[in-house]
This record gives sequence, structure tokens and C-alpha cells, in this order.
Amino acid sequence: MQKISLPAAAKITSPNPVSIVCTLREDGETNLATVSWWTYLSYNPSMIAYAMAKTSYSGERVRETGKVVLTIPSEALTSAVLGCGSTTGRKTDKVARFGIEMQSLPDCPIRVPAHSCAAIVCDLKEFHEVGDHYLYICNVEQVCADEKERAVFAWNGYSEIRPVKV
Ligand SMILES: Cc1cc2nc3c(=O)[nH]c(=O)nc-3n(C[C@H](O)[C@H](O)[C@H](O)COP(=O)(O)O)c2cc1C
Repeated sequence: MQKISLPAAAKITSPNPVSIVCTLREDGETNLATVSWWTYLSYNPSMIAYAMAKTSYSGERVRETGKVVLTIPSEALTSAVLGCGSTTGRKTDKVARFGIEMQSLPDCPIRVPAHSCAAIVCDLKEFHEVGDHYLYICNVEQVCADEKERAVFAWNGYSEIRPVKV
């Protein structure tokens, strides 16, 4: 084996998971940001975690509101995944800019993209500094799914978004 960098390892471990992190903007609309670094943590109680750069607007919003929904996008959201992963909600209303169709979930103040495979509705439990990111540890309040939709993943590191071939 040869020594490689951690970013180079991310290519080798492709396909990597992809989620769209949904948080409440100050105007009550939703901010969307693409996040690959998320994981299940516990089934009992239901918990997940994700890591976001310290500078992200999404991080600012979840620390302020304590609420976040992680959605798993389908193929119809491929361009939204790339768009929401390359612009910050601090300067852009991404839903309007990328023309993303939204839907409501029961008992949830945050609207999420239509054509999501799953939506994991969370309360922020705690967050920790981890290098240049914060790790957000969340309690899962409810999970919704549409089994007709097919999840996409990040390939070639994080540059290509497509489903896993069967
Ligand atoms: C495929 C893909 C995966 C990404 N994964 C992450 C991630 O896990 N953590 C992170 O902080 N940023 C990740 N990003 C970058 C953020 O989505 C990007 O910095 C975004 O502009 C943050 O938006 P915000 O400032 O509105 O929160 C990813 C981008 C792409 C395209």
C-alpha cells in the first residue's frame, strides 16, 4: 500500500453518501446545503450526526434555531445537489435561484425539496469543534420516506452525482 492524503481517500471510498441539509433562514424560508459527511449514530434513541465547515451558513442557522432536516436527494435533484453545494445561503436564496420545488412534512416547520427519498427531521442535541468543521449531533424526531424515489451518491470524490448502478 502507498501513503495518500485524506481527500484522495474520499475518491477511493466513492460512492459517498449525499444529503441536503435543510435549515430555517431568518425569513422563515429554507436554506439548502449539500453534505456528504453524515452518519447514523444510534437507533435507540434515534440519533444521527453530520459535519459542516465552521463558515457554513447552515451551521449558523442550526446553532440559532436548534432544528434541521437531512434529506436524501433523488436523481431529479442532481443539479440542485451541485448548486446547493457550491453557493452559500448567506448571499443566495438557493430555492429561488435553482428553481427547486419544495414540499411540507407533517409537524415540521422546515420545508424540504420535493423528490427526496427520505427526510430525517432532527433537533440539535450538541455540537463539537472538529478541526475546520463542527460536528452536529442530533436527536431524530421523525423520518419520512418516498420509496418510489432512488437515492443518488457522490462519485469520483464529490464531483459527480448519480445513483449506484445495479
Ligand atoms: C457533493 C458535495 C458534498 C459536500 N459535502 C459537504 C460536507 O459534508 N460538509 C461541508 O461542510 N460541506 C460540504 N459540501 C460543501 C457545502 O455544501 C458548501 O460549502 C455550501 O456552500 C454550504 O452552504 P451554506 O453556506 O448555505 O451552508 C459539499 C458539496 C458537494 C457538492
